Parts: sequence; C-alpha cells; structure tokens
Amino acid sequence: MSPYTPEDLNNLVQAITTSPKYAQITPSLVERIAAEELEKRADYKSALKAARTRLHQVTGAFLAPDINYAKWADILKSIPPDNTQELQAFCQRVMRLHNSTAERLPYIEQFFRTALADISPVDSVLDLACGLNPMALPWMPLAAGCTYYACDVVLPMLAFLNQFFAASGTQGKAVPCDLSACVPQQKVRLAILLKTLPCLDQLDKSLGPRLLAELNADHILVSYPAKSLGGREKGMRRTYTQQFSRLMEGTPFRVREFDFPNEMVFLLSR
Ligand SMILES: C[S@@+](CC[C@H](N)C(=O)[O-])C[C@H]1O[C@@H](n2cnc3c(N)ncnc32)[C@H](O)[C@@H]1O
Repeated sequence: MSPYTPEDLNNLVQAITTSPKYAQITPSLVERIAAEELEKRADYKSALKAARTRLHQVTGAFLAPDINYAKWADILKSIPPDNTQELQAFCQRVMRLHNSTAERLPYIEQFFRTALADISPVDSVLDLACGLNPMALPWMPLAAGCTYYACDVVLPMLAFLNQFFAASGTQGKAVPCDLSACVPQQKVRLAILLKTLPCLDQLDKSLGPRLLAELNADHILVSYPAKSLGGREKGMRRTYTQQFSRLMEGTPFRVREFDFPNEMVFLLSR
C-alpha cells in the first residue's frame, strides 16, 4: 500500500489496538509493525491481518490470554513479607502464565545455578525482553542487595513486576523498552537475553548483533528455544546452533555453553 499517509498509519494503529491484547503493547512497537505492513501489503485489510499476526508471534503467543494482573497483585499483597516458601510458590504459579518461564520451571534452580556458577553472586542484572523471568529471582544466585532492571513491551506485566519487586524487597525496576528502537545503557554485571533473539530476528535481523555489541554488561546470558511452543524439536537445535555461531563471528566474547531439555544456553563474557 505504498505510499501511505500518516492518517492510514494512525487508522491502522487504532484498528490493531481495539483488541485489548495489542492495546497493552508499547505503542512504538505497534507503530513500527503497522508501518512495515502498510509498506509491504497491497491493501489495508491485509496490512491489518499481517500486523496482528506479527504482534502475536513476538508477544501474545507466549502469554496466557486475559491475565488478571490485579488478582495476582492482590494474592501477592496477602503473602507475609517473611514467608519465603509462600512467595516462591506464588512465583511458580505466576511463571506458569508465560510459556517461556513455564518451560523452565522443572529445572529452574539448576538452570541459574549452573549457568551462572562462574560469575555468582551477581550484583546487578538487566533482564531484556524479560517476560515473567524476574519472578525466577528467588532461584538466581544473586548478591544481597542486587539491582535488578527488567524490560519488555507488555505494559501491565511490567507494572505487575514492579509490584513484585516492591513486595519481595528487591531493588528492582521494570520499564517498557522496545528493543527494536533502543538498547538500554545501564552498566551491569549480567545482561539476560533468554529466548529473545529469535523474536528480535523477526523484527530486524541486525538487532541481535547490535544488542550484543552495545550492551554495557560484563556477561550476557543468551538462550534459544530447543523446542517449538507446541513441544516439537523441528531441527531447532541445529538451526539455532548455526545462527549462534554466525552471531559470534568476529566478536570478542568467551563462550560457555549449557544444555537443558528445552533450551540451549550460552554465557558470553567480555
Ligand atoms: C520468548 S519470550 C522470552 C521471555 C523471557 N526472556 C524468558 O525467556 O522467560 C520473548 C519476550 O520478548 C518480548 N518482546 C518481543 N518483542 C520485543 C521488543 N521489541 N522489545 C522488547 N521485548 C520484546 C515479548 O513480550 C516476550 O516477553
């Protein structure tokens, strides 16, 4: 539909965000995808369909539909601050709402203990495209008083994570950040990029290399899914091993590799 007018773009963004599922996504990402689809598609109707599909692929596909964050926040408030066991059980329940964290739950403690053994305790973290991964904080080998920054594009989820940080006594902050538009610049010991590079590749293939080059972190924990959301392997290990090797070409990183049932994990160190 090229050329399109600013009004066409505005109408498309409005049409996309009539769905509550897409209204909760950072506007810059919705606008970016809407503009790209207007550029590519022959007419408005196919641009709308394609934009919704892409937004679903990069965000909606992972989250349970209609999460009632207010309900979860109320349950969180009812947990006494010193009841670690109850808080951990709560975190596990919430992590089941996001496919990525749900898959990691059977081995969550081993996951972080193994992958971060050489650099723990970690005193500052930047969790990028975090999903609900900050709820795994009780299982991470972090230093007392660790600062935990997190970002994603799903706005009510970020508000809920800030409530979780406050309730769990974590020095943490979750902020909206569309990684296709900016690279956070906080200086941290560890940046976390779990199962996110394939999503970002769908937006722009240059984003992965740019992130790795520009993040201000001593170490970056990167992972790829080893199975599809439906649980099939579909050659994903081979595909992502090749992708990761290409991503590492010419970079200064020392790489440690870990293998988990659903996930291929790499710790990159400068
Ligand atoms: C496969 S999930 C991974 C979630 C989490 N890192 C984990 O492994 O538990 C991908 C995440 O990327 C987020 N996302 C998608 N596009 C993004 C973008 N442009 N900027 C920041 N986050 C994005 C989605 O909302 C989703 O939470």
